[in-house]
Amino acid sequence: MRIYDLDGLPPGLLPQLGTFQLSDGDPPQGVEFIRRLRRTPHPASDYFAVYAVEDGKLLSRVETLQLPFTGPTGSDVVVGISDVLTRPDGVGRGLARSLLDEVHRRERVRGRHWSYLWTRRSWGAHRLYESMGYKDVFSPPSALGEAGRSRQRRPDPGYRLTPERTTDGRRLERVLREATAGRLGFVPRTPGSFRTRIYLGWRKPESHLLLRRGARTVGIAHLSDDSRWNLSVNEVVVTGSEHQEPMVRCLEALAGRRSLTFQGTTFVRDAEGFLRARGYQLLAASHSLLMAKALGPRRTTGADLRTVFADPRYSSHRGDMF
Ligand SMILES: CC(C)(COP(=O)(O)OP(=O)(O)OC[C@H]1O[C@@H](n2cnc3c(N)ncnc32)[C@H](O)[C@@H]1OP(=O)(O)O)[C@@H](O)C(=O)NCCC(=O)NCCS
Repeated sequence: MRIYDLDGLPPGLLPQLGTFQLSDGDPPQGVEFIRRLRRTPHPASDYFAVYAVEDGKLLSRVETLQLPFTGPTGSDVVVGISDVLTRPDGVGRGLARSLLDEVHRRERVRGRHWSYLWTRRSWGAHRLYESMGYKDVFSPPSALGEAGRSRQRRPDPGYRLTPERTTDGRRLERVLREATAGRLGFVPRTPGSFRTRIYLGWRKPESHLLLRRGARTVGIAHLSDDSRWNLSVNEVVVTGSEHQEPMVRCLEALAGRRSLTFQGTTFVRDAEGFLRARGYQLLAASHSLLMAKALGPRRTTGADLRTVFADPRYSSHRGDMF
């Protein structure tokens, strides 16, 4: 088995990049897509990914990101493991483990102290990561406001929700930056993050609802489900705590008779008191998990960034799940 990074892959193997992730139910991401992605501000590592190749077959892949992370004593760039996949005909032979070892080696050399990844408790991969020293550090909360409850569903006077129409993502970025100033976690998000997602088709501008107060945008809610029975949001931020209640009320008015669900957003923690008082059911954790691994011996790992996840200042939304 040989390990290559993207630029080192023998050209004859490049066509296999396109089909690689079909086995996981994802759309193809061939050479042309990756070239485009690398021209955006997407925070991919300079080597993009490492690949395991055997007998001319590209069997396993680990993609990585370089992400800003803010802890209580300052900011650091950390490694985000964004995609671990072994083709079904390569599993169980230690390929994913070897690639992760290679990523850890490379990142230690460049001085990175921490590596993070998102997975699910019930996946086999969770055992692999645990055996390599990753620890569970955070699981996103949710809240459900049942349909048809008798609470008042009128928007707060003075506030309204409107869909984003512009495609450059600038306003979304500005509001998120303002709303997460002083917060901890994967903040500030990499510049250009909304623009990149919109350009690549990963998000639609109009699925972002802007909370407006007069001419000012004071919050964003990203719609993840807008069905007949339910309205879900998975990224909710406001530029000041006084806008939390208006945000919930405006979303309730939009949901109408449907249930309203907050999923995978620490807005649930931020607005916990208000949501409880309004009869929402809260779930403190989900099956999604963030795991962290120190890349060096303890004395060389800088601030212990694992301590931030219980802090009320910790901020995490769908866009922070890489
Ligand atoms: C998870 C996955 C990447 C593992 O790839 P792999 O190359 O088979 O992994 P390895 O052979 O290096 O596995 C090493 C360890 O992982 C664990 N492991 C891997 N798959 C497992 C499974 N399905 N159930 C339980 N443990 C599993 C084992 O502990 C194994 O330990 P061992 O080396 O002592 O046997 C692969 O099954 C896959 O691509 N799955 C679908 C995509 C996915 O879930 N990716 C992870 C996203 S977070």
